[in-house]
Amino acid sequence: MSNSWPAVTDRGELRGSAGAHSCALGIDIGGSSIKAGLVDLERGRIMGERVVVPTPHPATPETLTNAVRGAAAQVLAQQPGGTSSPESGYEAPLTPPVPAGVAFPGVVKNGVVTFAFNLDDSWLGANIEQTIGAALGRPCVFLNDADAAGIAEMTFGAGRDWHDRTVLMLTLGTGIGSALFTRGRLVPFTELGHVEIGGEDAELSASASAKVRFGMDYPTWAAKLSRYCWEMEKLINPDAFIFGGGISQDHADWLHLLDLQTPAVPAAMFNDSGIIGAAVHGADVAESIGRKALQR
Ligand code: BGC
Repeated sequence: MSNSWPAVTDRGELRGSAGAHSCALGIDIGGSSIKAGLVDLERGRIMGERVVVPTPHPATPETLTNAVRGAAAQVLAQQPGGTSSPESGYEAPLTPPVPAGVAFPGVVKNGVVTFAFNLDDSWLGANIEQTIGAALGRPCVFLNDADAAGIAEMTFGAGRDWHDRTVLMLTLGTGIGSALFTRGRLVPFTELGHVEIGGEDAELSASASAKVRFGMDYPTWAAKLSRYCWEMEKLINPDAFIFGGGISQDHADWLHLLDLQTPAVPAAMFNDSGIIGAAVHGADVAESIGRKALQR
């Protein structure tokens, strides 16, 4: 399914229209775990239990597709009329057939993966619609994981009052993801976590996984993150930063240690924003495609 990027302000209108879906499946593929949930699109909340399964290693198209299908099946099994057995064969359709959005930790253009820094190299050039899309068996949209988190935060969370500003959302996890919004519109596929600082890819020293890998305490890591954000201030000049990823839940331990010129806030949905934004975008794209078909 081809992508389009409605402005944040148009999303409510799309979702509020007659015939719009009230919920959608959101899946967030991360370097260490795959998170999935059914999302209430009016409230921007996960309904029922969110499912978390480990990202397989190596994360090839085949292993990841199986893991994503398993996570989706577990989510849908919680719904009335849902897939009865999460272990049902690969060919069995997963029900109910709500639309889905899948947040991927890389760049997906026209259904093809063109960049995936933290997954197996066999993803490069792979057609994700024919792998994960086919396994989910429903209208399915793929987007970058940080872009998904940003859509959720700009629609329902920390950025909902900043539609007239330039906002840079950074997700801090295995890598550093970036989602850039200006006047409520996403500039998709930015890969600002890979800006080089001192000749080194920034995410290798300033991501949350680097903090763990190098045993950094919060002040040491906050200094690295500040250094990275100065580069963002210099190059992008955002009006605000939103910090997401699992570590945003512990923001009380480190946000005050950052030394920035720009206002910075934690993600309101913490690590759930990827699931929620993926579902919102999946539903919005399905809705706009449905409308175009009706107009023909
Ligand atoms: C990837 C990005 C992704 C980020 C967070 C980076 O390594 O290149 O596409 O958004 O990690 O997962």
